[in-house]
Amino acid sequence: MADITTEIEELRSQVNEHLYRYHVLDDPIISDAQFDALIADLRRLEEENPELITPDSPTQRVGAPVGALFAPIRHLRPMFSLDNADSAEMLVAWEQRMERQLGRAPVGYAAELKIDGLAVVLTYRNGVLDTGATRGDGVTGEDITANLRTIKSVPLRLLGASPPEILEVRGEVYMPESAFEDLNKRQAEAGERIFANPRNAAAGSVRQKDPTVTATRNLAIWVYQLGLVEGGPSFASHTETMQYLRDSGFRTNPASEQLDTIDEVLDYVARAEKGRHETGYQTDGVVIKVDTLTDQVALGFTAKAPRWAIAYKFPPEEQVTMLKDIQINIGRTGAATPFAVLEPVFVGGATVGLATLHNADQVALKDVRVGDQVIVRRAGDVIPEVVGPVASARTGREKKWSMPKTCPFCGNKIVRIEGEAVSRCTGGFECPSRVREWLFHFASRGGMDIEHMGYKTIDLLLKEGLITDPADIFTFDVGALRGREGWGEISVSNLEHAITAAKDRPVARLLTALGIRHVGGTIARTLVRHFGGLPALMTASEEEIAQVDGIGPTIARGVAEWSADPVNRDLVAKLGKAGVRLVEEIELGVAGDLLAGATFVVSGTVEGFTREEAQAAIEQRGGKATGSVSSKTTALIVGDSPGASKTRRAEELGIPIVDGETFKRLLEKGLSALPA
Ligand code: IVH
Repeated sequence: MADITTEIEELRSQVNEHLYRYHVLDDPIISDAQFDALIADLRRLEEENPELITPDSPTQRVGAPVGALFAPIRHLRPMFSLDNADSAEMLVAWEQRMERQLGRAPVGYAAELKIDGLAVVLTYRNGVLDTGATRGDGVTGEDITANLRTIKSVPLRLLGASPPEILEVRGEVYMPESAFEDLNKRQAEAGERIFANPRNAAAGSVRQKDPTVTATRNLAIWVYQLGLVEGGPSFASHTETMQYLRDSGFRTNPASEQLDTIDEVLDYVARAEKGRHETGYQTDGVVIKVDTLTDQVALGFTAKAPRWAIAYKFPPEEQVTMLKDIQINIGRTGAATPFAVLEPVFVGGATVGLATLHNADQVALKDVRVGDQVIVRRAGDVIPEVVGPVASARTGREKKWSMPKTCPFCGNKIVRIEGEAVSRCTGGFECPSRVREWLFHFASRGGMDIEHMGYKTIDLLLKEGLITDPADIFTFDVGALRGREGWGEISVSNLEHAITAAKDRPVARLLTALGIRHVGGTIARTLVRHFGGLPALMTASEEEIAQVDGIGPTIARGVAEWSADPVNRDLVAKLGKAGVRLVEEIELGVAGDLLAGATFVVSGTVEGFTREEAQAAIEQRGGKATGSVSSKTTALIVGDSPGASKTRRAEELGIPIVDGETFKRLLEKGLSALPA
């Protein structure tokens, strides 16, 4: 028994410490998932030993303590927290619990996004905003009225002729992702601290002593719950209350849906999780509420949470782990990029052991040190990054990092040019890391797209001395790989085919693969269309290049300088000798101005065309092909599996969306093929 008592006490003090860090200091040192595990352990021990539960145990409390910076405000109704679910089974079990209590399933659900921000309570008296408060411990919050008044989506006065005497609403103040990026950019430029994530930034912005600072932070609110209404209408469902709040001038989330069955709820959860990176703000789950208010009343509350609502949590995208080392990589341009070597953690659905740190300034601004506990983020397809240290977890033994003076790969000096963010290795193509990245870029999807030519193959070819530059890829004896580990007859022949196919890529692709600064796909196509191929481009002067429509002076200079470098001239000559196409064959007999003045975006694959072929076909007719939809886009052409965000953007801007058939007609007849 004595052991259990100590264990429970130990757990309680840990939980209290983390609650304080999270709610009062805005500086958590463990992830939400880790915290949930601690609390769950404590709950289990207390359930097994109910005689040991004390009234001050954190399990008996609704929320967190109130800080000293702001005056306390007592909420008119306590703000409960929500029970959590993280699987479909738990949602089904929730419905079954309610069914047992009601004798039937609840009538209807409301499903909403769980916004990852800061919970607030707004109180209106006779239609005028009276107070705004943080959630605090659920009973008493902090008076942050002055700060909340600066948020433009918080109504200061309710719409409608006869407002209720008292209206209390709850919502989540959050920082849109774009505002978060702008803020961190401004903070970095001013040499100020960078925020780890939009939630921390929102919390920090709302708890400012000076409201004029809050006002610059571009915060917004989604209102999600009616707390209390006195001297106003009555309602039958949560959905009705939300309609009322919307009519009163509050911003309510458009992703909310009224649903009939738990199966529909499960479907909503799946859709919300899939689309979680498309909203422009951060969500950490879905909140499901029983819609009918009489059902809500019948179900009631436990000590901590309503029985009629539950929060489904998405798997976490941020975790805390140990930063074991900071190393650098030399990229194809010689840029030295620091990266973090981490104690591997499971985050955002994958185990992460390495994460980017961008550049030396970022390391300094984020103040991450070797030995730190750091927050690691991996969201969607985004590459894992270290967002910041958990400064309060420091022991004093952490080591500050600075950019090494010499390159760990080639021993040459690393220098940083005044005014540039990047440091560069001065070893040129002596540097094995640079050569490796150069080859990788050349063969990659964005370059010559040579299948089976990833890092693994490149490393082997370099080690065996079979290649030293991109042109060697087309001449080395692929058969020499036969018999190496993983290189059977089939792999050798696959690679041979992939290399042969790459010789005939559109010249613009080769130009992109060569990795000239600022020359991406669109610029490369413009240049090739004008000059017809590399020989003419490489003998053109800077002035001649700058005269090409769509090419600015910076790009012209970059291309001319690149072309003048004997290393590059030799390389291109060698590529030509190896049989790589350097001059474009011009398709004859197409009207060069059929699509003049029009701009298209191709999304997905149009039958009968590769993406480049579709873009080239547009350009041969005088049109422009770009990668992103804007107000200047004439039409979005969608093939199979188009990008959701492009389609959405086109819809928002009212830009015509046409299919592959219309595209083919466009190529024959011109703009008259577009819908009126
Ligand atoms: S309803 C009684 N709805 O999640 C109902 N909460 O513990 C109380 N949250 O910190 C909450 N989005 O601020 C509700 N659509 C939503 C929400 C939401 C985010 C937050 C809330 C609180 C936590 C729930």
